[in-house]
Amino acid sequence: MKQLVSMEDLTNEEIYSLIETAIEYKKGNKPNKFTDNYVSNLFFENSTRTKCSFEMAERQLGLQEIPFETSTSSVKKGESLYDTCKTLESIGVDALVIRHPQNDYYKELEGLNIPVINGGDGSGQHPTQSLLDIMTIYEEYKDFKDLNVLICGDIKNSRVARSNYQALTALGANVKFAAPGEWVDESLDAPYVKIDDVIEETDIVMLLRVQHERHDGELSFDPHEYHEKYGLTKDRYNRMKSEAIVMHPAPVNRGVEIDSDLVEAPKARIFKQMKNGMFLRMSVITHILAEKEEGVIFDVAN
Ligand code: CP
Repeated sequence: MKQLVSMEDLTNEEIYSLIETAIEYKKGNKPNKFTDNYVSNLFFENSTRTKCSFEMAERQLGLQEIPFETSTSSVKKGESLYDTCKTLESIGVDALVIRHPQNDYYKELEGLNIPVINGGDGSGQHPTQSLLDIMTIYEEYKDFKDLNVLICGDIKNSRVARSNYQALTALGANVKFAAPGEWVDESLDAPYVKIDDVIEETDIVMLLRVQHERHDGELSFDPHEYHEKYGLTKDRYNRMKSEAIVMHPAPVNRGVEIDSDLVEAPKARIFKQMKNGMFLRMSVITHILAEKEEGVIFDVAN
């Protein structure tokens, strides 16, 4: 794998390989260290989980991070994304993690000779979130075939919905959506259903954050009404199968997408998703650098 910008670029075999490496790291198998390699994390949109778990993963792999903050960089003088990335490539950085509000920003970077790991582009793709979600599901079910997945909420503006719909469908799951009419995404070919019609037969309830920052203030939004129609209420939680799970990429709007008391309830895997994210990001970085540097995945000395 040369880089990771979209789930559409991964075969099912590559998805399984990335997850299996992450699970080995989680079990305690030692990663190969890349102590002579440099990485920069370029976050043009806010982040807690993605940024911090990439930073943790990079430290676990012995990578040296070249700090980059948009607010103190020459981005503020109008430097283009391409020129910023070309500069980091020129000074010897080996890989870039980028989050950017523009869909498909990575297409502008195709001429560069530095791997890009997409930490989220607008409403386009969020491949490492999708992979950590798939890892979390794999740990529960070991297979994706015929799993019933319900993705609820702001489908149209969600890179998580798009990435997971594509990958989970390719892996054999049945993906359905529940969303208010204004957040329906016609470009994704999944059926739209009412949560209450399918909650009892669903294996995975995946809630999405309401993406207020992408709504341009055009919507009048009533959080209580949204919660009652599209959120995970206690009643819906109790109607789920006993072995079914609840996922959310977070940050969570408590009391909107999910009743606050359910965020750490027994069926919830929200903080497990975050824990898995660090191991999954170690796996992605390792697979890319191992190919670039002709290195290995595990520490063969231990
Ligand atoms: N899930 C996710 O991408 O969270 P952050 O925006 O905090 O990185």
